[in-house]
Amino acid sequence: MCANVLAAVAWPYANGPRHIGHVSGFGVPSDVFARFMRMSGHRVLMVSGSDCHGTAISVKADQEGLTAQQCAEKYHRIIASDLQGLGLSYDLYTSTMTENHAEVTQEIFRTLYRNGYLVKQSEMGAFEPSTGRTLPDRYIEGTCPVCGYDDARGDQCDNCGRQLDPADLIDPRSKTTGATPQFRTTEHFFLDLPALAQSLTTWIDTRTDWRPNVLKFSHNLLEELRPRAITRDLDWGIRVPVEGWQDNPMKSIYVWFDAVIGYLSASIEWARRSGDPEAWKDFWQDPEALSYYFMGKDNIVFHSVIWPGILLGVNGQGDKGGEPSEEIGVLDLPTEIVSSEFLTMSGSKVSNSRGATIFVGDFLRDFGPDALRYFIAVAGPENQDTDFTWDEFVRRVNFELANEWGNLVNRSISMAHKNVGAIPQAHDLTDADRDLLEASAAAFDEVGGSLEHARFKAAITEVMRIVGLANAYISAQEPWKLKDDPDRRDTVLHVALQVVSDCNTMLTPFMPHAAQKVWEALGGDGVWAAQPQLVEVDEGYPVLQGDYASEQARWGRVEVEVGRPLAKPSPIFRKLDPELAQTGPAWAPISQD
Ligand code: MF3
Ligand code: ZN
Repeated sequence: MCANVLAAVAWPYANGPRHIGHVSGFGVPSDVFARFMRMSGHRVLMVSGSDCHGTAISVKADQEGLTAQQCAEKYHRIIASDLQGLGLSYDLYTSTMTENHAEVTQEIFRTLYRNGYLVKQSEMGAFEPSTGRTLPDRYIEGTCPVCGYDDARGDQCDNCGRQLDPADLIDPRSKTTGATPQFRTTEHFFLDLPALAQSLTTWIDTRTDWRPNVLKFSHNLLEELRPRAITRDLDWGIRVPVEGWQDNPMKSIYVWFDAVIGYLSASIEWARRSGDPEAWKDFWQDPEALSYYFMGKDNIVFHSVIWPGILLGVNGQGDKGGEPSEEIGVLDLPTEIVSSEFLTMSGSKVSNSRGATIFVGDFLRDFGPDALRYFIAVAGPENQDTDFTWDEFVRRVNFELANEWGNLVNRSISMAHKNVGAIPQAHDLTDADRDLLEASAAAFDEVGGSLEHARFKAAITEVMRIVGLANAYISAQEPWKLKDDPDRRDTVLHVALQVVSDCNTMLTPFMPHAAQKVWEALGGDGVWAAQPQLVEVDEGYPVLQGDYASEQARWGRVEVEVGRPLAKPSPIFRKLDPELAQTGPAWAPISQD
């Protein structure tokens, strides 16, 4: 049984280029997982897009003298191109600015409303006086009423750590304009989470294999569920599809409500673009389908409680019952929430004006995608906050990628090329040959088992262990000294190449670009690992798509083909200048004091 798999990847805000911390949270883990699942024979749908609404984008647009839409379009383009460069194999990477997304979001809103899970309430709100827009708590600053700190935020004081309400601040001011915020009552729609709490709890209790931190966090949230506002006083967002609200340009749907619905709307857009408009249902309405959601830890609450709550309400499965929407039907809840901790960049002490920020685009230009993908998989923030340093990056690239993996590929193919010109024949196998071949074959299950459970570090560490065994094997067998025993030499080279091929297969989800090159160096042709394409669609915006069904990569040993011609290989990984560890690159220099 090979279930359909939805890989739902968090939607990056289109308010600036993304840095390596962002892609270590949602990007690389989701792609490694999706590629592995495809290689294992699953039908995978990997969707995401740029998160384009909300205050974060309005504020950035004001700073740049752009409209919110221009600003979101600008960064959507940059982000999509960075994600393409990183080789993230989205079936569709779109944005929340599409007409389809607005329609799906409004249909979900209407269904929740009809089913009784939206309630209207008045609350006190803070407003930017010049524009009348909502001022979110974190955009209000003032003096902390507890400790007197000048720069306390409306949600908390970073000096004494106290949780605050904007109305508590002494001399409150708008962070962006400095003006005194207006406080007045305003009406909003709230998602009635208390009416969904019972079914949410029942459902979460079935999620026994979630990571303990996600489970614990979600249980805590369930104990104090309150209705949550899902509309805002803002001119940038999706209209509220209710009589009397629909035409009010100052009321829109809350960005987090529309963003999570993006998983569904992007699936629907993908189906339409792929020519089978019903195809999304195989990933959303089939109870056997699996869905994995990838994100940084600051996104957990929206995916483990709010999105499932929305889904239960839409399905008519909360306290108030209800009927699913005719168009959308009954939807599957998440199988798994895969969250990462944070990748920080303080150790690199970047001293330029952009602060300690290492942008994906700069990184790709100088070091290529696979070095970053490898680093994130092996040393990223899978289980704890982790600081990126240039020193560790240089060490990992030079000693692990170049010296260990690159060198194994290079020397085994070079020797076979020079001595035989093709993949040599194996003759009688010794214990050493058999041991290595068995260890390598067994790794497929071991590594695959880790990848199925999103344990990326364990998975890649195991592959690199086999790479180490293979290097030790070659050093011990010394095939270069076997001129007088060509049968034995050929056997050693054959075994080495088989293990290179195995390791390359297992490294494919992590380093698909290098994997394609190694595949070719082993004499393969055609597409081994497919890459996403940046496509300008008729509606006039760029999306990422890909033809992954055509790739040849499969999870498991493929016997190398004796006699297949081998060319002289060129190095797969360039070594980095050790200087870099001390100085950092010019665009993110390490402070020297
Ligand atoms: N834009 C949010 C962030 O960058 C993530 C949104 S994830 C979504 O933190 F699923 F809600 F889209
Ligand atoms: Zn304080």
